[in-house]
Formats: sequence, structure tokens, C-alpha cells
Amino acid sequence: METIFNSFSSLIIFLHVISAVIWVGGMIAIRFAIHYSMQDIEEPKIKLGRTLENLRRFFNMVIPAIIILLVTAIIMIIALGFKGTPLYPTVIAKEVIWSIMTIVFITIYIKRNKAQKAFNDGKFPIAKELLTPIAQYFIPLNIILGLIAIYLGVTLRGF
Ligand code: HEM
Repeated sequence: METIFNSFSSLIIFLHVISAVIWVGGMIAIRFAIHYSMQDIEEPKIKLGRTLENLRRFFNMVIPAIIILLVTAIIMIIALGFKGTPLYPTVIAKEVIWSIMTIVFITIYIKRNKAQKAFNDGKFPIAKELLTPIAQYFIPLNIILGLIAIYLGVTLRGF
């Protein structure tokens, strides 16, 4: 594993960083640019339909990013031998953050699917009720956790 990391260290760190960019940067763009611009659409059917589609397409990019983050993190943990060093608690903290972010993502994913079903059945108020907490709580929570993970990543850099 160490030799794999040494030969491909730039590629592994690149894949780790680009996955973080897609996940965290994507959430910031969805929440602070796209979400506000969607609010000007008056027709609920179009507004909800487009919101569901925005999220669905974003998830297609985020699911590979989540998996690549974990795989590259595992390679780095094994190859860099953090165990017993003063940086080990930071590595554990990042694992905890990744786990919470993934649970929050799964919650968002399930809520979007339920909202899609309600939307398809013409139950727009129910779809809206399911989508609201995604914008209000879940995405902002994951943005904050993601920013902390990026900061902690910087403190582990070049070890
Ligand atoms: C699964 C747990 C994780 C572990 C064990 C982990 C571990 C690491 C390590 C060891 C580095 C330093 C690489 C180097 O030698 O330069 C790093 C960098 C980085 N990590 Fe993670 N990471 C994890 C999850 C995450 C998550 C969830 C994000 C963001 C969503 C993230 C974002 C970053 C970024 C942006 C860097 C680059 C920092 C820099 O080069 O200055 N990591 N990570």
C-alpha cells in the first residue's frame, strides 16, 4: 500500500481534493446561488419539478465523490502511518465528519426520493414539506461540516 501511495501520491491527493471540491463547492452553489434564483419561479409545479431535478443531477456527481473521498482517505491513512502521531486525533475527527456528512447525505437522498413520489402523484404541498428541511437544515449543516473537514485536511497536509 505504501508503494502504491508513493507512486501515485499526487493522483490520490488530487482525487481526494477534487471530490471535496465537488461535494462542498456543489452544495454551496446549490444553496446560495441556485436555491435563491429558484425562489422567483411562481408556478409551484415548475419550481418543485426543477428543484427535484437540480438535486437529482447533483447527487449523480456527489455519490462518486463521497466514495472516492473515503477510498483515498483509507489509502492515505494506511500509507502515511498516522497512528501514534500527534495528528492521529485529526484523522479520527475527519473520519467522524465524513461519517456524519454521509448520514446527512443519505437523509437528504431519501427525502428527495419521497418528495419526487409526492410530486409525481400531484401532491405538491407534501413535496414542498419534504424539500424545505433539505434547504433549511441539512445542506447548511453539511456545508459547515465540509468546511471543517477541508480545514482539518490543510492541517494534515504534507505529513
Ligand atoms: C474519511 C476521512 C478523511 C480522512 C482520513 C482524510 C485525510 C486527509 C489527509 C491525510 C490529508 C492530507 C493529504 C496530504 O498529505 O497533503 C487530507 C487532505 C485534504 N482533505 Fe481529507 N480526509 C478525510 C475526509 C475528508 C472530507 C470529508 C473532506 C471534505 C469534504 C476532505 C477534504 C480534504 C482537502 C480539501 C484536503 C487538502 C488539503 C491541502 O492539501 O491543503 N477530507 N485529508
